[in-house]
Amino acid sequence: MTVPLVVGNWKMHGSQAECAGLARNILRLQRRKPAQVQLAVAAPFTALAPVKKTLRRTRIGVAAQNCHWQESGAFTGEVSPSMLRDVGCDMVVLGHSERRHIFHETDAVVAQKVEAVLRNGLQVILCVGETLAERRQGRTAKVITRQLRIALKGLAKNAIDNIEIAYEPVWAIGTGQNASPVQIALVHRRIRQLLTAWFGKGAGSRIRILYGGSVKPDNAAALAMTAEVGGFLVGGASLAAESFITIARCFNRS
Ligand code: 13P
Repeated sequence: MTVPLVVGNWKMHGSQAECAGLARNILRLQRRKPAQVQLAVAAPFTALAPVKKTLRRTRIGVAAQNCHWQESGAFTGEVSPSMLRDVGCDMVVLGHSERRHIFHETDAVVAQKVEAVLRNGLQVILCVGETLAERRQGRTAKVITRQLRIALKGLAKNAIDNIEIAYEPVWAIGTGQNASPVQIALVHRRIRQLLTAWFGKGAGSRIRILYGGSVKPDNAAALAMTAEVGGFLVGGASLAAESFITIARCFNRS
């Protein structure tokens, strides 16, 4: 069975020292009583180097929260996948709803980033999710299908082994409002069906589909038991080591 993946998305929070301290605390708690999952933290660009240094020679992965699709060039303010690899990143979060909705990233842009990150040998955490209006209009499946179809178009069949999908309903992010287990299971099942159709049965059954959106220590146990949930992408509650590890331990089976 695939081990669940639990990722902390620290968003735009923390100095280098604060982020390294948070990473150190997560490591300490994980060593004391391990969560039986793969852990990763998505730190701000400026803290990637110290966080990687803190976590080197551990099993905790380091992720960036975004990147550009070109290797280098006149792209003021951007960071390339090879720069992320150089700083020691293992993964990159792409297509987060805050990138899509605040910074107007289109599906086509997300697709270019997915391709570039994979080309650089890094793992992709691809976020998809509908807005409240889209859900109310009954368009959830349609929106998620479109986001996935465009982001994954043209990839080789084995590329899927380096991709994790995170379902993050936009209306559940930072709102304290979760999607229900039934809502999550329906969407995750749909995602798995699509991936099976596009990448084959083996890949479709192996891929981890994470849930993100107001995952907290008090609701994580129920969410971890939900069918088709292969891990979490945690925002606010990942900014404290104790709550992040408490959430991750909800996947422990012994
Ligand atoms: P919250 O857990 O703060 O709702 O954020 C979710 C998220 O956006 C993770 O990427």
